[in-house]
Amino acid sequence: MLFGKTILITGVASGIGARTAELAGQFGADVIGVDVREPAAPAGSFVKADISSKAGVDDLIASLPQRIDALCNVAGLSGNTGAVSTLAVNFYGLRALSEALAPRLREGGAIVNVASIAGYGWRANLNRAASMVGIEGFPDVAKVVADHQVKNEEGYPVSKELLLLWTFRAAHQELFKNRGIRVNAVSPGPVETPILKQFRNVLGDARVDSDIARVGRAGTSGDIAPVVLFLCSDGARWVNGANVPVDGGLEASINAEVLGF
Ligand SMILES: NC(=O)c1ccc[n+]([C@@H]2O[C@H](COP(=O)([O-])OP(=O)(O)OC[C@H]3O[C@@H](n4cnc5c(N)ncnc54)[C@H](O)[C@@H]3O)[C@@H](O)[C@H]2O)c1
Repeated sequence: MLFGKTILITGVASGIGARTAELAGQFGADVIGVDVREPAAPAGSFVKADISSKAGVDDLIASLPQRIDALCNVAGLSGNTGAVSTLAVNFYGLRALSEALAPRLREGGAIVNVASIAGYGWRANLNRAASMVGIEGFPDVAKVVADHQVKNEEGYPVSKELLLLWTFRAAHQELFKNRGIRVNAVSPGPVETPILKQFRNVLGDARVDSDIARVGRAGTSGDIAPVVLFLCSDGARWVNGANVPVDGGLEASINAEVLGF
């Protein structure tokens, strides 16, 4: 279902992005990988780019081909560098790249955003999330963080709340909808990649270990990549504006606790 498609994947130097790029190549896609760091073994072609600023996104767009079938937004920061850098990469940079790339995505193409179980609070924090998503373009992220009183330790969950809310909205946004571009999200639970160690520092071992204990094991990049690629494929042609938890049942378990069923 991916044979001959050109798929742009961010975050390919490590973890979930690296595995997604490798698997997409095995499925017959032409992969263009993007990362701020050089991958040890690139799958397909590679463009070094930093999506944390408008200039970085503009440079990246300028170096890309005119026709792309799907965009996988995988690159992300853990929050250990503070709320400003985390929101710049995980949300505002990701969104700027997606919007700038939309005219080059073929009709019927796809965008897949790697969000997180950490974005679970988007409903509870809807007003703040809606206000931050409502700021268009690539804003002065430090000002947005100050105006919305986002603490450094909240940077990661807030970035994923915004990403989920924007995914639901973008699926109906003319820029994407008019050309049949589907926009979906995948929300992993804890996955054994280098970022997990940073989550342990930010969230504490107890929180990460209790999430893992609920579902028996941590995920692997290989658990997440096939779902991301399915959403890129024509097999997912009627899936739009969805958030797919890929977490061994963690979100269902939290729902049961929170909603009391
Ligand atoms: N591993 C987990 O437990 C977990 C859980 C839920 C969600 N996620 C999400 O999955 C995605 C991938 O994470 P991972 O686990 O593979 O982590 P990772 O740290 O292994 O990979 C992240 C990649 O993003 C790249 N990146 C960071 N900043 C960038 C920038 N400014 N421009 C371009 N590339 C940049 C990094 O260089 C790195 O290669 C992230 O969005 C993360 O939030 C991970």
